[in-house]
Amino acid sequence: MIKNRIIYNSFSEYQFKISKAKGSYIWDENEKKIIDFTSGWNVVNLGWNNKEVNDAIVKQAKKNIYTSMWLADPIQEEYAEKLTASLPKSLTVITREVSGVTANIMAIKTARAYTGKRKILSFRDTFHGSLYQTLQLGYSPEYPISKAIFLDFKDHIQLKYPRVNYQDKNEQQILKDFLFELEKILKIEKDIAAFVTESGIITGWGSTFIAPHGFLTEVRKLTKKYGVLLILDEVGTGFSRTGKLYGMNHKNVIPDIVTFAKGIGNGATIAATVTSQEIAEKTFSKSNPQSTFGWSPLNVAGALKTLEIHLRDRVWEKAEKDGNYITKTLRDELKNISYVEDINGVGMEIGVRLTNGLKNFNMVRFIEKARGKGLHLANADGHSFQLMPPLTIERNVLDKGLEIFVEEVKSFN
Ligand SMILES: Cc1ncc(COP(=O)(O)O)c(C=O)c1O
Repeated sequence: MIKNRIIYNSFSEYQFKISKAKGSYIWDENEKKIIDFTSGWNVVNLGWNNKEVNDAIVKQAKKNIYTSMWLADPIQEEYAEKLTASLPKSLTVITREVSGVTANIMAIKTARAYTGKRKILSFRDTFHGSLYQTLQLGYSPEYPISKAIFLDFKDHIQLKYPRVNYQDKNEQQILKDFLFELEKILKIEKDIAAFVTESGIITGWGSTFIAPHGFLTEVRKLTKKYGVLLILDEVGTGFSRTGKLYGMNHKNVIPDIVTFAKGIGNGATIAATVTSQEIAEKTFSKSNPQSTFGWSPLNVAGALKTLEIHLRDRVWEKAEKDGNYITKTLRDELKNISYVEDINGVGMEIGVRLTNGLKNFNMVRFIEKARGKGLHLANADGHSFQLMPPLTIERNVLDKGLEIFVEEVKSFN
């Protein structure tokens, strides 16, 4: 969609202009106050225009807003120290990235440089960023977009995600079958540098994909056994979204490389690729870790304050509690609705999938109608929603939003 000279993505038919955004609310251009269930897709986890974060940015703007590639502002080093202190002990060094996509590309370059191998293992139907190399991790070769923009797929191996629906009874079998497939590939393919995955929950690809219990622990064991690096993309799962500070904390799995963006700065735009000293030392001269805009001190000030707030307030605890509450409320309220196929999530990253082709259902119309009633929603495809309220949302605001959502879903009954 193109509107007022800006090109938007394909999920933008319900694009609209805002006049203000604060906490759990946004206001449209007519000053209509709307509850937000998107957090800008997991960015403003601490609420829109969080005062402490914005004040930190303003304070930094009075000192220094830019530092070039071969300079360091003290706030960058302070942040690097605090970010790594919040991670498992072996993850000690960082590249200064600008967005999730550059962080993931950096991770892949690092893995290839370290292992001397080429191929990347990933899941089909996933998203790791909009550059073609990262799109290629999750887009099938058959998609029209793949034919239009990709080179070839010879360096990619895609697996099917071991997805568990909430009423599935055969979770452990799903895990067993997946691990069997994975090991079969790892045994045969000797040229795999890394396995890229999110930490047990895949977002944005039709509701949410939840992996079986034990998934990440077993993947870590197998990747270690076969000398393949594990890259965790925590761009969406990081910063308390899933009910832990990071998704990997659920099972204490330690990846070789982890990437962050989105919620890292609550709207301040930085990203990070973090790895061990040993991997970094062997690769930085080959992997070209550079960015003109990476970690502008202005944005780092926002990220530093964001991290401090997450740690101080243990934001993940509220996310876990409210996430369980949302999931339970929706499952209770929608339990006899035949066209609700799945309600699943981890923490406050929750997917709701309706039957594809539901009569009279139109996603754009649904979202616009909900907005008319005061709720801003995001869809994950033409029949699935992704609910991602700010983690700081007040219970009465959350209840009001859920009430609107449930009423709209029930209206097709
Ligand atoms: C899991 C995941 N990784 C990477 C990205 C890309 O991040 P960015 O848009 O900051 O490049 C996204 C964006 O939606 C994402 O959801």
